[in-house]
Amino acid sequence: MTALSHDEQFERVWAVADRIPGWLTRAQARLLFDEALTLPAGATMLEIGSHQGRSTVVLGQVARSADGTVIAIDPFVEGRLFGGASTKTKFLTHLDEAEVTDVVRHVEDYSTQARPAWTEGFDYLYIDGKHDFWTFSDDLRWRSFLPRDASILVHDAFSSIGVTLGILARVLFSRDLTYVRREGSMALFRTTRPKLADRLRIVREMPWWIRNVGIKVLLRLRLRPVARLVGHDSPYDPY
Ligand SMILES: C[S@@+](CC[C@H](N)C(=O)[O-])C[C@H]1O[C@@H](n2cnc3c(N)ncnc32)[C@H](O)[C@@H]1O
Repeated sequence: MTALSHDEQFERVWAVADRIPGWLTRAQARLLFDEALTLPAGATMLEIGSHQGRSTVVLGQVARSADGTVIAIDPFVEGRLFGGASTKTKFLTHLDEAEVTDVVRHVEDYSTQARPAWTEGFDYLYIDGKHDFWTFSDDLRWRSFLPRDASILVHDAFSSIGVTLGILARVLFSRDLTYVRREGSMALFRTTRPKLADRLRIVREMPWWIRNVGIKVLLRLRLRPVARLVGHDSPYDPY
């Protein structure tokens, strides 16, 4: 991979990942990829919530090129949205097709159940598991295994009620989490002490969050033409 430019590397990675169903957009995959690429050789990335592996293979391909490892935590919950055991089969097939099986370690457990007994450090955290307030708040506690100045990426940071309330309650006033920026509603944080300006940047995302929740309500009410008026021309939720 090293002889290629970053853009060329990403194009190869995305060509593989984009065949896998999921919610990750191209721009969000680029953010995941760019942050992963800054890690030293041999680094470990921990992902909470893998589904069919769309994001896992992005991280896995970076890991494969840099002697790294991805720890993918997902219990494969049953239900209409996530699909349970059949999703696990697809996840494993997709890892195989992307040739990343040997660099991805799957932990078949709930993040909240795995964390209390966890001991292993890692270098990068991606949170995209259960989106309720309490689970997300607990998932942020995985940062105790990260070094200072590490990247934490959070999907649906500003499009889900539970996750955004978690950010307001656990990040806005925290002393060791700095909000950097977002790609759609995927947010990048770092494990450093925030300045007032960093905290204010979170507050300034609130109109964007309210817009996204409003669009989700409009789509549930089958009012897509109204959603179009606020610039959302898609049958899918804003991610
Ligand atoms: C939105 S999907 C993840 C999408 C994936 N990152 C992608 O790029 O396609 C959420 C996943 O989180 C899993 N999940 C739900 N609760 C979880 C928990 N407590 N810990 C870890 N994963 C969880 C679900 O089984 C589901 O596969």
